[in-house]
Amino acid sequence: MTSDFLVVGAGVAGLRAAIELAKAGRVLVVAKDSLRESSSEYAQGGIAAAVGEGDAVALHEQDTLAAGDGLCDTEAVQTLVREGPVAIQELIEWGAEFDREGARLALGREGAHSRRRILHAHGDSTGREIARALHRKAASLANVELRSFAAVTDLLLAEDGSVAGVAVCDGSTHSHAQLRARGVLLATGGMGRVYAHSTNPEVATGDGVAAAWRAGAALSDLEFVQFHPTVLAVEGAGGFLLSEALRGEGAWLRGADGERFMTRYHEMAELAPRDVVSRAIVTEMERTGAEHVWLDLRRLEADFVRRRFPRIYETCLKHGVDLTKDPAPVRPAAHYAMGGVHTDLHGRTSLPRLYAAGEVAAAGVHGANRLASNSLLEGLVFGARAGRAMRELAGAPAAPPAPPAEPLFPELSEEELRALSWRHCGIVRSGEGLAEVCRRLEATPLRPNAKPNRAMFELRSLHTLAWLIARCALARRESRGAHFRTDCPESRPEFQKHSLIQKGHEVTFF
Ligand code: SIN
Repeated sequence: MTSDFLVVGAGVAGLRAAIELAKAGRVLVVAKDSLRESSSEYAQGGIAAAVGEGDAVALHEQDTLAAGDGLCDTEAVQTLVREGPVAIQELIEWGAEFDREGARLALGREGAHSRRRILHAHGDSTGREIARALHRKAASLANVELRSFAAVTDLLLAEDGSVAGVAVCDGSTHSHAQLRARGVLLATGGMGRVYAHSTNPEVATGDGVAAAWRAGAALSDLEFVQFHPTVLAVEGAGGFLLSEALRGEGAWLRGADGERFMTRYHEMAELAPRDVVSRAIVTEMERTGAEHVWLDLRRLEADFVRRRFPRIYETCLKHGVDLTKDPAPVRPAAHYAMGGVHTDLHGRTSLPRLYAAGEVAAAGVHGANRLASNSLLEGLVFGARAGRAMRELAGAPAAPPAPPAEPLFPELSEEELRALSWRHCGIVRSGEGLAEVCRRLEATPLRPNAKPNRAMFELRSLHTLAWLIARCALARRESRGAHFRTDCPESRPEFQKHSLIQKGHEVTFF
């Protein structure tokens, strides 16, 4: 099947790019699972933009740079905060309904933001509302076709090394197909499922990054994985997120002994950057031997909690926690990949005809630690930019792909892999543990399979990603942002650089 442009992923970045691309040709948008199953759907807290009274793009820039711990690309951040308010206005014109106080947009607060600047929708279903509006807009365009259940397994390369399409596997029928196009945009989202504990949906297995790696694309900053501090720690809750917006409205963290502890760790207490809060929680759990800490909302008015956080309130209630009366057991979980396929500010990667936007991409916006609620904004702003840039391929002939290499699958269990990543590539790391992950994964036997299914391809992606994270984290002999090593606990000026890894090469820094 051939289209002009292929967008892999139907979350915010992919849909926003497709809307731009539709102006220049036929666009096929493929979703790995059902069309609505993406990380965007689960984003609760909101989308940050300097639209409030007393706020300014310069302040949003300052907060983003501070959270990024010396590693943000300033031009990328300026692009994000400058184009953000325009992107949101456009979204409102396309039908997105953000919560309001009277006629004004209601603005929440989250960690490391110096101002109230978080727009939200239906209280705590912001990603779902943005994806709904983009989906409706994209589906209304004659040039856009949306297809579900097509998981990318490999990039198809032409003889000249340019990207000619993708191979996909249908997760329901296990059938395989090749989709060809003049250009491919990866918008496949994150890789949180590399870890035993994650806020990400099951589809977040890093397939886009792994496929780009196998095709020879440059990847950057993979060692930086953000751990969200507060996931509901109840059996069967499946990594359900308790949004940072709860702390933004005044919820406190308490240890096993009931004591409020964040005031001992950071001047911003519960609103410190996420890496600081996650590490503090781990320290408290280790200190007391408890499996979780507590998130306490009882100082907030019950009606306010139910109205402002309806989805969170109802979900907690289903799991036996009434947030208006009981503190919720919480612990950190893998949440967001700051690194990914290295791109310029227009989504161009190191491979001709391959573009990337959203969580799969690394344009340098987030540095070593993403500021809360900047991810939906990144998807919107850089999705649109990548879509516009990719129109440069409008007149180019599609190149025929060379036959792809036979896939090889690792022989280890998903549980084993996730436990290994959690133990050694998690919130607190060490050189020894990271080297152990590399050794273990390099020694894993790889075998072909006559009837590969989606789960096997996902395990292959997770295996590749775990190794890449460990490899990059081992090379970064310092601690910075979300990457903390007990054997080198300080930041070092010689590492105030992005990491870069490419198949067949050692990790370098630039
Ligand atoms: C949250 O609601 O806490 C998540 C928002 C984000 O990751 O930016």
